[in-house]
Amino acid sequence: MLNLFKKKEQAVTLDKIPNHIGIIMDGNGRWAKKRMQPRVMGHKAGMDALQEVTIAASELGVKVLTVYAFSTENWTRPQDEVKFIMNLPVEFFDKYVPELHKNNVRVQVIGETSRLPKDTFEAMERAREKTKHNSGLILNFALNYGGRAEITSAVKEIAQDVLDAKLNPGDITEDLIANYLMTHSLPYLYRDPDLIIRTSGELRLSNFLPWQSAYSEFYFTPTLWPDFKKDGLIEAITEYNRRHRRFGGV
Ligand code: FPP
Repeated sequence: MLNLFKKKEQAVTLDKIPNHIGIIMDGNGRWAKKRMQPRVMGHKAGMDALQEVTIAASELGVKVLTVYAFSTENWTRPQDEVKFIMNLPVEFFDKYVPELHKNNVRVQVIGETSRLPKDTFEAMERAREKTKHNSGLILNFALNYGGRAEITSAVKEIAQDVLDAKLNPGDITEDLIANYLMTHSLPYLYRDPDLIIRTSGELRLSNFLPWQSAYSEFYFTPTLWPDFKKDGLIEAITEYNRRHRRFGGV
């Protein structure tokens, strides 16, 4: 059982720490607008929030943190904003990775990364390479990720393997399908999120890990992502501790 002292007088006791947490980091634009700043300043503040949440999650013993950084639908945003977000991994590598590395965090990426701009792709590759021997929390970026696209490409690969006689249709199980999804790169026991957090008051999954979230607990908060921070994470996990996961049983 873990005792966390948020304030001197208020002890938070958490006995279940989710192994895998997924986060839809929403509300950066609104955060900036509230401060009369350009939207991109919200993404900048969002990076700081992500760093704080990652370190806090790692200290709590979370094994995997999958964060929705850019969806396949986000390309329709104004070009300047897309360009700014695509440059974040470069800044991420220079400014944030050294501290993560010190904290034994390993960076991984899911999504259609081959379609990212070259600099973005290379910055993520450098982060992945630099941290690949770390054994602590896995910070898994969903970057140019879309859940339906992920399932579609898994179906194509499975169909091809059946055509090539590497597989029989009878071999297709849920476990086998999971092996063809992008999350197969995560440790087997932690591929599916136990808890999914979405900030900013929106109550949608927005194509984030639709297969993997079949049994996840959901936590929605009106807090905008840049304000979420360590306290937000502790509140989400406290709420998760109140839930009773039955996986279809009684
Ligand atoms: C959603 O807020 C946020 C995003 C689309 C981008 C989030 C990305 C980060 C916090 C940093 C990712 C880091 C790396 C290294 C890639 P929104 O713009 O939809 O906010 P709004 O709904 O208020 O407009």
